[in-house]
Amino acid sequence: MGKDFSTMEDSNRSSNPSIHDVLRASRREALKIGAVAGLGALLQPLAGCASLGSGTRLGFTAVPPDSADRLVVPPGYVAQVLAAWGDPVGIAGRMPAFRKDASNSAEDQSVQLGMHHDGVAFFPFDGSSSHGLIALNHEYTDDGLLHPDGFVPMTPAKVKKSQNAHGLSVYEVKLHGQQWEVVRPSRFARRFTMDTPFAVGGPAAGHPLMRTAADPAGRTVLGTLNNCASSRTPWGTYLSGEENFAFYFGAGKNLDAHQQRWGLREKSFYAWENSDARFDVQKTPNEPNRFGWVVEVDPMDPDSTPIKRTALGRAAHEGAWVALTRDQRAVVYSGEDARFEYIYKFVSRDRMQPGGAKANRELLDHGTLYVARFDANGRGVWLPLVHGQGPLTAANGFADQGEVLIKARQASDLLGGTRMDRPEWLTIDTASRWVYCTLTNNSQRGESGKPGVDAANPRANNTMGQIIRWREDGDHDGTGFEWNHLLLAGDPVNERAEARGNVRGDFFGCPDGLGFAPNGLLWIQTDAHATQMYKGEFARIGNNQMLACDTTTGEVRRFLTGPVNCEITGIAFTPDGQSLFISVQHPGETPSDRSDPKDPQRYSSWPDHAPDGRPRSATVVIRKRDGGVIGS
Ligand code: FEO
Ligand code: CA
Ligand code: CA
Repeated sequence: MGKDFSTMEDSNRSSNPSIHDVLRASRREALKIGAVAGLGALLQPLAGCASLGSGTRLGFTAVPPDSADRLVVPPGYVAQVLAAWGDPVGIAGRMPAFRKDASNSAEDQSVQLGMHHDGVAFFPFDGSSSHGLIALNHEYTDDGLLHPDGFVPMTPAKVKKSQNAHGLSVYEVKLHGQQWEVVRPSRFARRFTMDTPFAVGGPAAGHPLMRTAADPAGRTVLGTLNNCASSRTPWGTYLSGEENFAFYFGAGKNLDAHQQRWGLREKSFYAWENSDARFDVQKTPNEPNRFGWVVEVDPMDPDSTPIKRTALGRAAHEGAWVALTRDQRAVVYSGEDARFEYIYKFVSRDRMQPGGAKANRELLDHGTLYVARFDANGRGVWLPLVHGQGPLTAANGFADQGEVLIKARQASDLLGGTRMDRPEWLTIDTASRWVYCTLTNNSQRGESGKPGVDAANPRANNTMGQIIRWREDGDHDGTGFEWNHLLLAGDPVNERAEARGNVRGDFFGCPDGLGFAPNGLLWIQTDAHATQMYKGEFARIGNNQMLACDTTTGEVRRFLTGPVNCEITGIAFTPDGQSLFISVQHPGETPSDRSDPKDPQRYSSWPDHAPDGRPRSATVVIRKRDGGVIGS
């Protein structure tokens, strides 16, 4: 997400140690591991970048930074806009065309692609690299663009259209020659909106804190929202994180401690509570507890019910990514993209079974959730969120395991997890077992009254972000790990040492999307905000971009630059590695909260560049002009 929802991100009041405490305790250890986390060493750009090309696995010509309203890929590559906000998803008999003035109704929007594409995954038919399904998140709405006359007044019809532009989409795609096309109609085409029933699985299902007047059983929630990153599980389902859910609720003036810890505010950002009582917390106080979960969808079964997996914990989940232990148990890594929040992993009790989604319907409902603590000596510990263990007792406000999961932030505060610089995407190198995570930025790190730097989050006023990685002791279920930084992002010419980074190769800021390709290259996508870009420390960085990293050498090379004020996100490869699907989100994002409906193309008109149109988020698919593996 590009919006700088900073008001939410100061909600961690826990007294978990900052680096000042850690360094006092183990300064010698911190300094000893300069290659891992020694602060001075990491703040210097690494020399000799130009010579890293020898033996590299990066086979494409780097593109330069760009600030034009266009999408640029290396010579020999072709980028195709596949499906944009408002295009029909492909439900038979219900395929209204997008209207350039945004005058489609809420009902139209319920069968068209939603706004602000983010996480994307490809589900091949029988292993095919030319035919399959795309599952896609629609993270949020810019109501200045969504309606012809914008946000004011936010009528019930506009609220409904905004709700229908959120959620998820599934659409069918097919490759003809070198061109992909959306198959319409398709029996797999599907939208998940705020009206779609989601089952609740895991220990918090039916919990008193999950019950509402409309759902007294606490087992069925209508809708999913602010879905950000996504992944495909080894058993063939789609995982999607409900990220900044707190911004959808108006909670009034008198917030209790639980509501404060989760960042609820007097009024919502979207004004849904004006016409939908579910989002008025004074009327439906438990409704916020029903969001902030990882949702699981089976795209291959159009009749399947999506499920919220409470065993994975409640958080402002960016997304969730699955590794398998050697004995086939699922280990789900996830982070919480908010300043000073946590990184989690879940280890399933049971083994993955052959037979796909149906055979693994309850795999993510039983297991153990842990929060990460990164120590200054390059080691780390996973701390279990298990009711009755350590401080997670009734005396401390946790009646049972369901309450531990609903209040995962409070549990992690007590356990002493490490407060991170906004964890975004994670990805797992299955060959080496290293797990990588982008920490996108945290300009409040080290501010007065905020946590100071620590070994894992080593820069004050961290405008640029870093990529951290760890490897578990033994197997993915290990409770101890080693860790270090793959890189600190930045531009080496910056005056402030904390903004220079140590990237070996092409500089960038604010890593967000992250994923390994089938050929083992690591792909990095960026999300600097419109308020940061094109000036100061970001003056040379230009539009948000996508880069490839050879993790064996650390070399980073810029592969793609996006249009003005967009975010590049979503990474999905076909099994042959020859087609890459990404999301271009919020082209033309405004530095203010919402676009001006009188001037919708003030910053961008991508991708249509129509005189009477407006910028649209879109799925883009990239191929080599003559075929071949992307990046090779
Ligand atoms: Fe939705 Fe954390 O990006
Ligand atoms: Ca982001
Ligand atoms: Ca993101």
